[in-house]
Amino acid sequence: MSYSEIISENKSWIDEVWEKLDKKLSVTAIKSRNKIPYSTKNGEHDDRSGEIDWWTNGFWGGLMWLMYEATKNEEYKISAERNEEILERAFDNVAKLHHDVGFMWHLTSGANYRLTGNRKSRNRALLSAMILASRYNVVGGFFRCWNDSDKESKAGWTIIDSMMNLPLLYWASNEIGDTRFRNIAIKQADMTMRDHVREDGAVNHIVVHDPDKEGVVLEVKPGQGYGVGSCWSRGNAWALYGFTLSYLYTKQDKYLQTAIKVADYFIEQTKKTDWLPRIDFCQPDSPKYYDSTAGAIAVCGIIELAKILNKEKSEEYLSCAINILKAMEKNWCNWSESEDSILQMGSEAYNWGRHMPIIYGDFYFVEAILKLKGSKFLIW
Ligand code: GLY
Repeated sequence: MSYSEIISENKSWIDEVWEKLDKKLSVTAIKSRNKIPYSTKNGEHDDRSGEIDWWTNGFWGGLMWLMYEATKNEEYKISAERNEEILERAFDNVAKLHHDVGFMWHLTSGANYRLTGNRKSRNRALLSAMILASRYNVVGGFFRCWNDSDKESKAGWTIIDSMMNLPLLYWASNEIGDTRFRNIAIKQADMTMRDHVREDGAVNHIVVHDPDKEGVVLEVKPGQGYGVGSCWSRGNAWALYGFTLSYLYTKQDKYLQTAIKVADYFIEQTKKTDWLPRIDFCQPDSPKYYDSTAGAIAVCGIIELAKILNKEKSEEYLSCAINILKAMEKNWCNWSESEDSILQMGSEAYNWGRHMPIIYGDFYFVEAILKLKGSKFLIW
């Protein structure tokens, strides 16, 4: 079957889920307007605006922009603008910022500028690209991801998650007509391909490099996965969608091949557990830990790949993406309007051993459903 035949076959399910999303989010958009949600407490969104530099603080605004673009309902726009306004305070202490400024401002200010032409938002998005570019270590050939903790220096640490911050840099280069941001993004993507992506398509979450020499790996750390050499599913999902987006921006085939390799691994592993992703693909059978966020992020990349690959691969990928979404919707979606989050069973890290709704699970779930509905708006 072709891409469009598979979509037609699933159209009633896609439309039904979309209606439920819009119905619930149109209530939450107003209720949570003055917060920046991360998870929930007793069913209600919590508020991370007190920790303004927290890496997920742009997803609520990004979710509101996705909904506004699809519905033109002004309530979503007001909530998206409010998120950006609150986030402004994070620029007061730029030394506390980190590599996740792409998540924070590409999805808020960047989306605002691309959808409305707001010049102030353009400036914020460009400023965040400059902050990210300033984290590039020209000798080491990579971005510094996190800042030091009290216990250790993280000068040489690179993490797989950075792949999803590169679209901010590609956009900045296109926007101002200067390849320097893009060139840095390409260096980071090449380093990630070399040091994080393994032969079988699994990935390393954290790699410690010598910050004063290029290409010298000192250590691989377990990060948020089960252990060294295991495979944290959200890390795979960041790589899958991140390399797909790097391909879409640069058209370099090596990124497409890497995205396919990672996607094949993700699909093969997720199939084993009825399309519900575990936190780590190498974790023991018990306890039964899952991570809905990994599934939501990964399907966004898999659908984008299905749009550009040959018929056979496209059919395989689109069917698998729909299988994952259907399994997650059936088992993990909460459609009650008296509770704020939608996708349950997210996980922060294997060793923290708890499940919770996480805001970017809802963001990517909505993004994936909009892709299936045929939306042409790529927020990245
Ligand atoms: N970027 C951190 C995480 O995925 O939890």
